[in-house]
Amino acid sequence: MQLLRLTISVSFLIITITLCQIPRCFCSVGEKYYTDCSSSFDCGNLKNLSYPFWGPNRPAYCGHPDFKLSCSGEVAEITIMFESFRVLEVNNSDYSLRVVRTDFWNNACPTLIMNNTIYCTLFDYGSDSYNLTLFYDCPSSLPLSLSDSDVPSTQFNCSINGTEMIDYFMTGDMLESADEIMGTCKSTVIVPILESHVKVLEANLTVENLKAVIDNGFGLKWKANNSQCYDCQKSGGHCGYDLSSEGFTCFCRDGSFPSTCRSMVIQYPYPHHSLLLEGGYLYKSHRLTWSV
Ligand SMILES: *[C@@H]1O[C@H](CO)[C@@H](O)[C@H](O)[C@H]1NC(C)=O
Ligand SMILES: *[C@@H]1O[C@H](CO)[C@@H](O)[C@H](O)[C@H]1NC(C)=O
Ligand SMILES: *[C@@H]1O[C@H](CO)[C@@H](O)[C@H](O)[C@H]1NC(C)=O
Ligand SMILES: *[C@@H]1O[C@H](CO)[C@@H](O)[C@H](O)[C@H]1NC(C)=O
Ligand SMILES: *[C@@H]1O[C@H](CO)[C@@H](O)[C@H](O)[C@H]1NC(C)=O
Ligand SMILES: *[C@@H]1O[C@H](CO)[C@@H](O)[C@H](O)[C@H]1NC(C)=O
Ligand SMILES: *[C@@H]1O[C@H](CO)[C@@H](O)[C@H](O)[C@H]1NC(C)=O
Ligand SMILES: *[C@@H]1O[C@H](CO)[C@@H](O)[C@H](O)[C@H]1NC(C)=O
Repeated sequence: MQLLRLTISVSFLIITITLCQIPRCFCSVGEKYYTDCSSSFDCGNLKNLSYPFWGPNRPAYCGHPDFKLSCSGEVAEITIMFESFRVLEVNNSDYSLRVVRTDFWNNACPTLIMNNTIYCTLFDYGSDSYNLTLFYDCPSSLPLSLSDSDVPSTQFNCSINGTEMIDYFMTGDMLESADEIMGTCKSTVIVPILESHVKVLEANLTVENLKAVIDNGFGLKWKANNSQCYDCQKSGGHCGYDLSSEGFTCFCRDGSFPSTCRSMVIQYPYPHHSLLLEGGYLYKSHRLTWSV
């Protein structure tokens, strides 16, 4: 007997919208970048660091290549134009950091007598920075025309490479009155300090205080695609660097983009139910149909 076969076809249309909080193994390579760069990191005594910084605990693609930090104990250091700086403070809200030259840390007598050069495409001096002038290897006998009162009381001695030398530090007014002596010193070095500390130095002209004021560092403002990074973060992404195209990139849940995560429009079957989804979340829709 032939049974009448009743075929019931039922179609189900299921739209599932899934936030990409599914296990990591289902996620794309792009999402790995997003995840890797989502957390902040610590380096030395600095906490809660993020783009443009990267280093031992954070992959290079989560930062900008020139903002690599080295971390050892309580000390974080950055290299700017081949010169090492100790990083004392980082402020992400105004893109500023406070640094001191590593060779001048607690030391007024560096082995290499040279100026620092700050990469001006990546950094600006903070508005509160001041150029302190140090004179090295000055003659011990002063020009006869100078009386004792003309000799600045900012003298300090260094022994560099086994050579004793007489040195001076100078701020604003002192510089003008001491022109004659200083012309006879072998080298001049400009060391940035905080302008607010010039008075502190002038009030106490000892080499100990000189070191303390230098160790307080000076301010820099970084320029590492700051506005792109701001926009990227606002769109829900994490800032990073595309090591192959060598440029800024914004890591989003669904991949990386040049500046911001894309906004996506998901169309429900009913037009009035469309959703504008921002934040780079990955939305997946599955259309499943089967028959019984
Ligand atoms: C860490 O930094 C982020 C942004 O850089 C900021 O929103 C957050 O408040 C900071 N957290 C702490 C504990 O400082
Ligand atoms: C960071 O900079 C902002 C803006 O200049 C300022 O309001 C804030 O106090 C600074 N944070 C720290 C920890 O200095
Ligand atoms: C000290 O010696 C180093 C290495 O030879 C040299 O590069 C440097 O210029 C010397 N410093 C001074 C102040 O002569
Ligand atoms: C450092 O810079 C000052 C001012 O620009 C300059 O006069 C001096 O010669 C420089 N010193 C060295 C060692 O290059
Ligand atoms: C300090 O000197 C550097 C060059 O050595 C210069 O670029 C900078 O503008 C100077 N800063 C101030 C506050 O004069
Ligand atoms: C530096 O050395 C000279 C000569 O050795 C000495 O007369 C002078 O007192 C010393 N200056 C300081 C600040 O120690
Ligand atoms: C001068 O500064 C040094 C180092 O900061 C400090 O130890 C010393 O007490 C100060 N001297 C005076 C007279 O303020
Ligand atoms: C990032 O900044 C660099 C230099 O300021 C600029 O050449 C580049 O176009 C910027 N990247 C993006 C994605 O805008």
